[in-house]
Amino acid sequence: MSQTIAVLKGDGIGPEIMDATLRVLDALDCGLTYEFFDAGLTALENHGTLIPAETLEAIEKHRIALKGPLTTPVGKGFSSINVQLRRHFDLYANVRPAISFPGTRSRYDDIDLITVRENTEGAYLSEGQSITDDGDTALSTIRVTRQGSERIVRYAFELARQRGRKKVTAVHKANIIKTSSGLFLDVAREVAGDYPEIEFQEMIVDNACMQLVMNPQQFDVIVTTNLFGDILSDLCAGLVGGLGLAPGANIGADAAIFEAVHGSAPDIAGRKIANPCALLLAAADMLDHLDMVDKGARVRGAIREVLDSAREQVTPDMGGSGTTDTFADALVAHLQR
Ligand code: NAI
Ligand code: MG
Repeated sequence: MSQTIAVLKGDGIGPEIMDATLRVLDALDCGLTYEFFDAGLTALENHGTLIPAETLEAIEKHRIALKGPLTTPVGKGFSSINVQLRRHFDLYANVRPAISFPGTRSRYDDIDLITVRENTEGAYLSEGQSITDDGDTALSTIRVTRQGSERIVRYAFELARQRGRKKVTAVHKANIIKTSSGLFLDVAREVAGDYPEIEFQEMIVDNACMQLVMNPQQFDVIVTTNLFGDILSDLCAGLVGGLGLAPGANIGADAAIFEAVHGSAPDIAGRKIANPCALLLAAADMLDHLDMVDKGARVRGAIREVLDSAREQVTPDMGGSGTTDTFADALVAHLQR
């Protein structure tokens, strides 16, 4: 079966790292067909809008998109494209794996965890934010629903089941924020009952931060509400050496968008030194999502191998003296061996 995916090369370093990523995917013979669409600054220049209707329609039709970083113009009244995409497709799960790779600036070499962050409610509502006329008191609403909590916790357990993972940790602050965090925790406990083969653990968010820094190997899948997930997933990226190796996915019932966590890096765009790994790891997660788990594993294996044994070929941010292209060459050569 051939699967078509919508490819958004994006802005800045986007086209460079996307070309490298697609070369690596092609070396795997995944049977994927790519259709290319504009978004971001490129789309603004070509179509007069940051997200053209045809880009949205393509994602709707193919249900899977691989997306390079997009530049949101600052101070011109544009709202974040990523937030728009999340809303449009109701992409309720933000999935951020953190896996150790060799040769990174990290104090650990054996981390393998996934943060599953609720992406549509919690503290990140545009409504429910107010400030008094005198400007002295501000109010922000946290909204948590049973339905929103249930679908994210269920997503985390299903992911754990599919990937053969052993434990799901629900991170909360129900001891203090008894209403919203309390509801999330209640629902997590209920859903956990449907997955007796997977260990369920509860952890208060401040303790979770300390445990992640002191003993991250104890974690497997973490599920949490929007704000805590935002913070914890960046903490986890830091544990494995920073954004250069951090992929992310935004997943809904009808569409899934895979991307690198980093931005368009305008400071190095066009110099061919951008590290393609984060987007490649996002592509590997996309292969997992498409039930090509063995191919996803091969991408990660190739990255591990090249970082370990062909350092001169990798990009400067990983300590090499190579380019985006030599990095991709080394990965392709490894896969074809
Ligand atoms: P950034 O992530 O683009 O860059 C931060 C620093 O990391 C820069 O020094 C950059 O050179 C470096 N860097 C990032 N990715 C790299 C890679 N693959 N290889 C080597 N070095 C890399 O963050 P910044 O500068 O805050 O944002 C730039 C633009 O990206 C903004 O317009 C922002 O809106 C957009 N952005 C888009 C995102 C997305 O589409 N998912 C996410 C974050 C930012
Ligand atoms: Mg964040």
